[in-house]
Amino acid sequence: MKRVPLSRGELRELAVWVEQACGIAIGPDKGYLVQSRLGPLVEEAGCRSYHEFLQQVASGRLASMRDRIVDALTTNETSWFREPDSWLRFEKHVLPLLRERFGPRLRAWSAACSSGQEPYSLVMLMAERSRRGLDEGLRVEVLASDLSPSALFVARSGRYAEFAARRGLSGRREAILHRYFEREGRFFVIRPEVRGRVRFKMHNLLDPVPWVGRLHLVMLRNVMIYFSPAVKEAVLRRLTGSMPAGAILWLGGSETLFGLSAPLAPLPGVRGFYEVKR
Ligand SMILES: C[S@@+](CC[C@H](N)C(=O)[O-])C[C@H]1O[C@@H](n2cnc3c(N)ncnc32)[C@H](O)[C@@H]1O
Repeated sequence: MKRVPLSRGELRELAVWVEQACGIAIGPDKGYLVQSRLGPLVEEAGCRSYHEFLQQVASGRLASMRDRIVDALTTNETSWFREPDSWLRFEKHVLPLLRERFGPRLRAWSAACSSGQEPYSLVMLMAERSRRGLDEGLRVEVLASDLSPSALFVARSGRYAEFAARRGLSGRREAILHRYFEREGRFFVIRPEVRGRVRFKMHNLLDPVPWVGRLHLVMLRNVMIYFSPAVKEAVLRRLTGSMPAGAILWLGGSETLFGLSAPLAPLPGVRGFYEVKR
């Protein structure tokens, strides 16, 4: 079947709409990616051009496509204990610091949680530590959100095909797979006691923070790479507004706050972590 063509002007038009909808920046070199991900939706809608498609979406005639466009353009790549060194730094330096600063009741938010591996990894880490007799009296409330309906569906179900279930859980972490998952045919399902410890919500980082109350730890990992500097800045201002002085922001391995003016400073000696400074 012949593909609907995408002109440079239509790509620009689409890029403006997408950035307004979810912050994701689409550069002029992304035509192929856009066509491969959105082409099927344009065809399904019976539109002869991307311009017509976008006009219909914007006018509300194809309103139900909005979530599906955003869903198709987000990258939901993730794994258990992704970037393991950063989890080691969290355990060794950040967790004790948070307890020292804020006491034994902590609130953590995984703000772009994809299919749930990140917040569940946090719950499983805390469970593993308590098995070892650590963190007596410590309670970490874990909140998690994402914009992608399909990623959130998997996150809430806690049900993973074998490949996804094993990513990040080999070697010394393999015991986790046996302790916190139940096997259901070809799937691994998170045990209810872990699943019940995460509160999920659909949330767009461009909107006001959805949780009432202070956040001591915000995991904002591997999502700002998709945003322009202006969007990053707006997102960080909003998040830090819900974090007390001394709260910690956790970024992905390739991310920095270089050139951004949010009230955050690198946590000395702990790469990837930033503290709120006021
Ligand atoms: C690459 S995944 C990162 C998942 C996880 N944090 C990790 O590091 O493994 C990026 C996630 O950001 C989400 N995302 C992108 N733009 C967003 C927005 N404006 N609001 C909320 N989530 C967004 C995507 O849906 C996707 O699940």
